[in-house]
Amino acid sequence: MNDSLVAQSAPAEKMDPGGLLTDRTVKMRTRDVHVFYGPKEALKGIDLDIGDREVTALIGPSGCGKSTYLRCLNRMNDYIEGIRVEGRIELDGRDVYDKSLDVVQLRAQIGMVFQKPNPFPKPIYENVAYGPRIHGLAKNRAELDEIVEGSLRKAALWEEVKDRLDQPGTGLSGGQQQRLCIARAIAVNPEVVLMDEPCSALDPIATAKIEELIDELRANYTIVIVTHSMQQAARVSQRTAFFHLGDLVECGETEQIFTTPREQRTQAYITGRFG
Ligand SMILES: Nc1ncnc2c1ncn2[C@@H]1O[C@H](COP(=O)(O)OP(=O)(O)OP(=O)(O)O)[C@@H](O)[C@H]1O
Ligand SMILES: [Mg+2]
Repeated sequence: MNDSLVAQSAPAEKMDPGGLLTDRTVKMRTRDVHVFYGPKEALKGIDLDIGDREVTALIGPSGCGKSTYLRCLNRMNDYIEGIRVEGRIELDGRDVYDKSLDVVQLRAQIGMVFQKPNPFPKPIYENVAYGPRIHGLAKNRAELDEIVEGSLRKAALWEEVKDRLDQPGTGLSGGQQQRLCIARAIAVNPEVVLMDEPCSALDPIATAKIEELIDELRANYTIVIVTHSMQQAARVSQRTAFFHLGDLVECGETEQIFTTPREQRTQAYITGRFG
């Protein structure tokens, strides 16, 4: 048999998905991360770096493991019964599973915003003040007021709520509630903000506001966002990671992923041929 034929028929060598960063600061590093729900392996050895102060989008069809991966980053999976997480997960080079690490502190450093806005059934002010209070970030009421106002301003919500801070957060519109949840997350000075489909319950105008906000926040925060919208991933992220069936298939600069994906599966997904 001639050599070129052998080369063609040999199984394609597994391509490097490109999850590692060499050209900029890594904020979070995950290596060989496997997650099992009972016997089911939901993540099959993920090697992925999260760049500092940029937006990383996680995309892929339903059930591919995006939320599972996101929850690994701040150990939100700890709450799930029957789950097993293996591999190494680092924040600034430090193992997040280190026994000496305070998980409450970790979740303040790595905040989370969920799909469905979930403000506390408390006044708007209290929604934002709660975290800083339990973490002792303010010495007195004036300092707390300052944190609350600053967080609401950063979340682009201040002007809309400044005259009704004593009213329940649950009385706001969906998009306002989601910005309130973002204000609540950033009130404790996180370094990383995880967002799991933060706009899926919002209309296009509220979505545009959140996207604008994400773009502003990346100057100061590292953001990881899960989204089912290719347009959203393309609009808000600098780097995109495509997951499929528990594998990281391909990761790269967002523009490259959406214009010249290297993997056939990525191409199929972004052009809407499956998922
Ligand atoms: N608590 C759980 N118990 C058992 N299996 C789970 C649990 N959570 C997720 N799984 C399974 O793990 C796999 C990955 O789920 P995950 O929720 O991470 O996917 P996803 O990519 O976020 O999907 P979606 O886009 O639908 O939100 C799926 O097969 C799912 O059924
Ligand atoms: Mg999910």
